[in-house]
Amino acid sequence: MRIAILTSGGDAPGMNAAVRALVRAGLQRDWEVLGVRAGFKGLVEGTFVPLDSRAVGGIMQLGGTVLRSARAPDFHRAEAQEQALAQLEREGIEALVVVGGNGSQQGAAALAERGLPVVGLASTIDNDLWGIDRSLGVDSALNVALEAIDRIRVTASSHSRVFLVEVMGRDCGFLALSSGIAGGAEAIAIPETDPEPAELREELCDAYRRKGYAIGVVAEGWREGAGTLARAFAAAEGAAELPKVRTSVLGHVQRGATPSHADRMLGTQLGAAAIACLAHGEHGQLLGLHQGLLRGLPLDQVAGRVKDLDPQLLLIARALRD
Ligand code: F6P
Repeated sequence: MRIAILTSGGDAPGMNAAVRALVRAGLQRDWEVLGVRAGFKGLVEGTFVPLDSRAVGGIMQLGGTVLRSARAPDFHRAEAQEQALAQLEREGIEALVVVGGNGSQQGAAALAERGLPVVGLASTIDNDLWGIDRSLGVDSALNVALEAIDRIRVTASSHSRVFLVEVMGRDCGFLALSSGIAGGAEAIAIPETDPEPAELREELCDAYRRKGYAIGVVAEGWREGAGTLARAFAAAEGAAELPKVRTSVLGHVQRGATPSHADRMLGTQLGAAAIACLAHGEHGQLLGLHQGLLRGLPLDQVAGRVKDLDPQLLLIARALRD
């Protein structure tokens, strides 16, 4: 069998572990494995590279993706999909593995619908893929956010300051909620709960008056944004006695994390499972952790659907604050 693999959308720590496992598990079955350069863009342009076992040596510990990635907003167009299929046919490629998040899995589902055997691997730091407990990259990104929150707490408490830490996640508040809970944040702002800035300001002021410092974790997708909250803080009653709010935006620092043990394992297991699926003629699936087990979910049912936040986490975030 001759297969191609691509990594697409935002790079996620652990993608390289998946690529390595896909290549080596494929080679074990005497398959030919080709990498596609820069995701769907490379697929449309037909930039394939043959991958042998050595080509994927020493990559597991690297963040990002050695295959490179790209955003491909045009891939929803029929012409782009037809061109991609023509490139695959020209190369004699029989199946495709797509490692990526929501946008990428929509591309995967479109190709599957056109008859190509496709397996998707759930990979995005945002953790917004429907049906997937924890996508590849989430653990590493969370650990970066946590380390930042822990470090900022040291300064906040030493200097009696109020900090806001803005974390990534696009429209999904999972990274902010989860890192905020584990980092013991005094206030958390996420798009799903969409709090009023005045409400958060009160929470932060209250914590500051009691403890002498406070940290708010803000999701990048929160409508109001960290800037509005900082201004609301400055306009608070008794603002003269309160410190100026400082904001740290973590941004892409989270994506470039060294893959954690959990993400290296998950990438490896997903890669190996994808090859096993294709060997058994199972495709049209998104592979990921589903209710604690590594499972395949039908791509046509899950691609493009966004997962809801666990309501328990929201309750815990409120209940455990001091
Ligand atoms: O989807 C992953 C992600 O890092 C989001 O959290 C973020 O909003 C977005 O990608 C940033 O995308 P880009 O790097 O293309 O600007």
